[in-house]
Amino acid sequence: MTTSHTDHKIGPPLWLLAELTYRCPLQCPYCSNPLDYASQEQELSTQQWLDVLQQGRALGAAQLGFSGGEPLVRQDLPELIGGARELGYYTNLITSGLGLTETKVKAFADAGLDHIQVSFQASDPELNNAVAGSRKAFQQKLAMARAVKEAGYPMVLNFVIHRHNIHQMTDILALCENLGADYVELATCQYYGWAFANREGLMPSRAQLAEAETRVNRYRAELVERDHPMKVIFVTPDYYEERPKACMNGWGSLFLTVAPDGTALPCHSARLLPIEFPNVTQASLEDIWYRSPGFNHYRGDGWMPEPCRSCDEKDKDFGGCRCQAYLLTGNADNADPVCAKSPQHDRILAARTAADHATAGLEDLTYRNARNSRVFCRS
Ligand code: FES
Repeated sequence: MTTSHTDHKIGPPLWLLAELTYRCPLQCPYCSNPLDYASQEQELSTQQWLDVLQQGRALGAAQLGFSGGEPLVRQDLPELIGGARELGYYTNLITSGLGLTETKVKAFADAGLDHIQVSFQASDPELNNAVAGSRKAFQQKLAMARAVKEAGYPMVLNFVIHRHNIHQMTDILALCENLGADYVELATCQYYGWAFANREGLMPSRAQLAEAETRVNRYRAELVERDHPMKVIFVTPDYYEERPKACMNGWGSLFLTVAPDGTALPCHSARLLPIEFPNVTQASLEDIWYRSPGFNHYRGDGWMPEPCRSCDEKDKDFGGCRCQAYLLTGNADNADPVCAKSPQHDRILAARTAADHATAGLEDLTYRNARNSRVFCRS
């Protein structure tokens, strides 16, 4: 297949995210999967995934993430890891740790997996298990984090931060240190999928955020004093910024996500947009990346309305996040309302005010499970 002149301006998809399944034993109310995931049970076969990986590598992808749902649910994971290794990918498994065993951790290492990221919900079993919707999650995660370390992987622990666990920063970091983490990702909730549906019950107030930043910075300073190598990344919520994030480093510029049923997306949330996206069962990955209308939709700046079109920061933030613009304004062409120049910035200001006054408890959240998803399938 030949590439057109325009194709040459588009770089290769360096990051490939394989969302192997939407199945998951946990029920986190901030899951980024689609609300109606229960209506999308179709999954690519092992051979179809191996074919996607092969095509991705041929296009120039170097990093491969296995995620979901819970990717461990797929029994063919060792085969997919082995295939990815043969193709020369740097591979990362993003997991809750549920369904993992010491034997699997070792088998994945033998198959060539480079990296395992285990996610936690909190620093104590009560809160962790309440958020995860599973009574045994915390103990299992602890055991698996230790097994991952034991097997010699770089230890990456991820905590999704929201208003119910943001007070735990010091305890979370102490737990990570205790487990021997090399990297800790404190990722404040991004409001897509289930997290958007639960935003009022999850978004921290500005005061909570300021307190958390102080604690993280204090802990970081102590680590430096003690010459401790643990690295801490704190991703703060863009809802408290005045300029939008350069989402995905620009639409269709680096990231290519393949959903469980083979739908190819420029980001993991794009499925919610009123845009038709191609499927790997019907088109080659090369066609999808370079020539599909879905991937070309927001490339460049021709699509931009004001104030983005004449903004001198448009090459830096690319107009922000299309999914956020859609969720907050009903039109994905609009500037991301996080930007203070956006005429719809009031939506962000209203969310901040709501966070200052929110009283919702964990019991008020809509948990991510098939029963709740079916309600969204009907709506
Ligand atoms: Fe889809 Fe930002 S999450 S463009």
